[in-house]
Amino acid sequence: MLETKLFRVDPLNPDEEVINFAAGILREGGLVAFPTETVYGLGANALDPEAVEKIFRAKGRPQDNPVIVHVSRPEGIKPLVTGVPPLAQKLMDMFWPGPLTLLFPRSSLVPSVVTAGLPLVAIRMPDHPVAQRLIDVAGVPVAAPSANTSGRPSPTSADEVYSDLNGKVDIIIDAGPTNIGVESTVLDVSGAIPRILRPGGVSREELVEALGRVEVAEEFKDGVPPSPGMKYRHYAPCVEMYLARGDSQLQRKTILAESVRQISRGKNVAVLASSENLPHYASFQRAFPGKFLVIELGSRQDLSPVAARLFSSLRLCEKVGADIILSETFPVTGLGLAIANRLERASGGREIEDPSRRPLRVLMVCSGNTCRSPMAEGLMKKVWADMGQPFPLEVISRGTGAVPGLPASQEAIQVMKKRGVDLGTHVSRPVTVEDVEKADLVIAMTGAHKSALLSRFPQYADKIHTLAEMVPDKVKGDVSDPIGLGEKFYEKTAALLEEGLKSLAARMAAGEVPLVKRENGEEGAPEGPC
Ligand code: TXA
Ligand code: MG
Repeated sequence: MLETKLFRVDPLNPDEEVINFAAGILREGGLVAFPTETVYGLGANALDPEAVEKIFRAKGRPQDNPVIVHVSRPEGIKPLVTGVPPLAQKLMDMFWPGPLTLLFPRSSLVPSVVTAGLPLVAIRMPDHPVAQRLIDVAGVPVAAPSANTSGRPSPTSADEVYSDLNGKVDIIIDAGPTNIGVESTVLDVSGAIPRILRPGGVSREELVEALGRVEVAEEFKDGVPPSPGMKYRHYAPCVEMYLARGDSQLQRKTILAESVRQISRGKNVAVLASSENLPHYASFQRAFPGKFLVIELGSRQDLSPVAARLFSSLRLCEKVGADIILSETFPVTGLGLAIANRLERASGGREIEDPSRRPLRVLMVCSGNTCRSPMAEGLMKKVWADMGQPFPLEVISRGTGAVPGLPASQEAIQVMKKRGVDLGTHVSRPVTVEDVEKADLVIAMTGAHKSALLSRFPQYADKIHTLAEMVPDKVKGDVSDPIGLGEKFYEKTAALLEEGLKSLAARMAAGEVPLVKRENGEEGAPEGPC
């Protein structure tokens, strides 16, 4: 473990001693975290493959994700490339120094670890006196991804770098918070139409104005990520995050409704809010002190502060112990495209569900999931369809001791066929915690099934019931096992289930069944370096 040294410098006029020291470390193959106008970078000598390897190790970055090379002046690219596409020259003249990374055919001087073996090398000239001075004095191009642990929000302050990389980097140069707050735009000008591989500090509109036509690479179009970095989860806080959609008013209503749900479950909510909606959250803040934190990102009319505060706000949500982040979304013009991209990735694309459109999920449970519960599943779906689908409903069935992969029993298939229910494609499955988590209502065929479920999933006791408990006037006691008892008994079981489920469905449609709505995020926390 390295001893990480922190140096504070004036961003406009950095201390030469510090710059010389840091430049020396770069030349000797060490790692220096430094500010740029976008985010902090984790730099190494781009011409030294071993030094660049260190970046990957320090960040825990996948080897197939190439890094950007930083130069301090446009001529700096010459030894690194075999040619300069005409459009690239124009863009360099217009946007460098600045948050625009361009792809060039790579020269043999660039180690393959830098480009992850790709033929193009990404280069940019940062618009920050500290970065420029450092690269200049080092006298080498500097390979630098964002100075965060891979997958985490990019750092916009030295403290954030420190919290991710303490002990993994030789020095951190602290020049205060970065200005833009989202990373550079990565643009591929090697093809016929320039393509934005990552939206960033230079907007699509600015590029369109300069070039006429620009494409934005669709993420994962045809399953192939346009930029290697885009296939990885990024910018993710260690707290589950959900996005609100729709106009500004709908967003705040959705957020407030979801907050009530979450707070009633004992969760602490953090909201990333637009300035416009801020006053509307005030009464909630008073009503739920310590449970409902609102962080102002900025105005929908001026997205620069939103971009500048975005990553640090995600980290702040972690610090204050939020259990869930609910974020507003912003217009996608100008910096908004980059903001939308980062929000999308930080949340894993999860949205706050509109409760009026969320299907209810019913889980039917018996022992082997070959007779009673598949019959109940099929019948419930049919009954619901016959009632004209009062609201969206999903029904599945599982067994407490099911052997996976068995078909429904022949008799079950027969008696269901008579009722217009096809169990021919049913396959048995054992019940899992995810099944129970996702369900709003779990219906056990017998008291023994209920007990088995309760002992395995006590945390979900409030949604586990026997059918008899739900419709005591129709079903008395257990729905007993017909297996091995012949078709007649199956017929009796089917009739009992049908009667019971019709009644249950009618009660559900009338809103008389206490449903434990599943929580957001039950799909499991997104993977990330948390
Ligand atoms: O603003 C920025 O660009 C910051 C500061 C430090 O300069 N750097 C930064 O680097 O964000 P990083 O490594 O976190 O993101 C670089 C992005 C990744 O999506 C990567 O896949 C892409 O650029 N990239 C780098 N080299 C590439 C190449 N040769 N071909 C295609 N994409 C490349
Ligand atoms: Mg990064």
